Amino acid sequence: MSTLLAVNAVTKRFGGLVAVDNASIEVAQGSITGLIGPNGAGKTTLFTVIAGFEPATSGSVAFEGRDITALPTHERAIAGIARTFQIVQPFAGLSVRENIAVGAFLRHPARADALAKADAIGHQVGLGAMLDQSASQLTVAGRKRLELARALATEPKLLLLDEVLAGLNPSEIRDMMPVVQAIRAGGVTILIVEHVMQAVMSLCDSVYVLAQGRIIAAGAPGEVARDPRVIEAYLGHGAAARMQAQAAGGAHA
Ligand SMILES: Nc1ncnc2c1ncn2[C@@H]1O[C@H](COP(=O)(O)OP(=O)(O)O)[C@@H](O)[C@H]1O
Ligand SMILES: [Mg+2]
Repeated sequence: MSTLLAVNAVTKRFGGLVAVDNASIEVAQGSITGLIGPNGAGKTTLFTVIAGFEPATSGSVAFEGRDITALPTHERAIAGIARTFQIVQPFAGLSVRENIAVGAFLRHPARADALAKADAIGHQVGLGAMLDQSASQLTVAGRKRLELARALATEPKLLLLDEVLAGLNPSEIRDMMPVVQAIRAGGVTILIVEHVMQAVMSLCDSVYVLAQGRIIAAGAPGEVARDPRVIEAYLGHGAAARMQAQAAGGAHA
């Protein structure tokens, strides 16, 4: 499979804080690639740099083999990169359809075309029955779908999903998984930041682990979840050894 996105040794500093530290990742065309890591690891910051909302302090980003490091956000969107925002803020005064159309205007400047595209995307993400409602009436799960729809309406090649399952209950998560799978089946490559491990395991072909700005592990989801470095990053120093000792100690440990 060819590489759609390549992040090469990206560092992002905010003053004295190194939010992303020399991180390199590759996202294969057609894949669902996961990006996991503890809170504050730099996952959202890396998305911000990939989508061009903030410049990298150093390093480069290539999309379809082309260096896009200096490209402004709007041109990256036109090239085919869309992201969702972890903090979902729909336009409360607009309908669900109009909110989705905000994304669709990128490729459909005529209002009627954008609204028609928004309609189709709304149905695709399960918001078909709510298109005429005000966005402010949506539940948390509805707002997450709307955020997904807004990004999808730009007709991306690469979709960056930042915790679209956060705040959802287990049945809402189960309902959302096939929506994400169908997007990939439709030809969109996905890079997903997610804390819900069950979702990461079943959705992702491969996973990168970020901790304190650095990529500390990468590979198939099952391998990565067993990696002692990953366990330590989540649970603290010595956690992997304690878990091994417990496993060796049998049922009473
Ligand atoms: N705009 C910003 N200005 C200053 N510090 C920031 C900014 N954005 C993120 N950070 C800091 O960078 C680190 C990584 O944050 P973030 O990328 O949001 O992590 P994650 O998404 O993995 O939880 C945190 O310490 C955070 O406080
Ligand atoms: Mg984040």
